[in-house]
Amino acid sequence: MSGDLRKHAVAVREKAYAPYSKFSVGAAIRAVSGAVFVGCNVENAAYPQGTCAEAGAIAAMVAAGETSIAEIYVVAGSARPVPPCGGCRQKLAEFVRGDVVVTMATVAGVEQHTTMTDLLPGAFDAAFLEG
Ligand code: THU
Repeated sequence: MSGDLRKHAVAVREKAYAPYSKFSVGAAIRAVSGAVFVGCNVENAAYPQGTCAEAGAIAAMVAAGETSIAEIYVVAGSARPVPPCGGCRQKLAEFVRGDVVVTMATVAGVEQHTTMTDLLPGAFDAAFLEG
């Protein structure tokens, strides 16, 4: 099932703008509609202004009018499968209803499957804002 997501994530990773870290990341999100959205990391000379691949994919999904994630795939050229950073876990959790599979992968093809709940147990969510 995640095979097509891998193709999308690997392809968009090639577009990453990572001249500072030289660490290119690609992310592909399948929305519950079935549509796939992709993003890559985009760095900046003012380092903190860079954005992660996951954030780019989320932005593309929301811009297309979708707000519910069914599956996530993240790939990098690291030796071990790349886990979403803490900030991206929170960003992804905003759009996950229930639990979804997150596949973390290397370009070489090593995959590790986990879930949003495992990545971010006890997430802060909108319910806390209701008092
Ligand atoms: N990066 C991502 O795009 N996603 C992650 O989940 C981990 C880190 C990017 C941010 C930065 O451009 C580079 O990888 C090195 O940290």
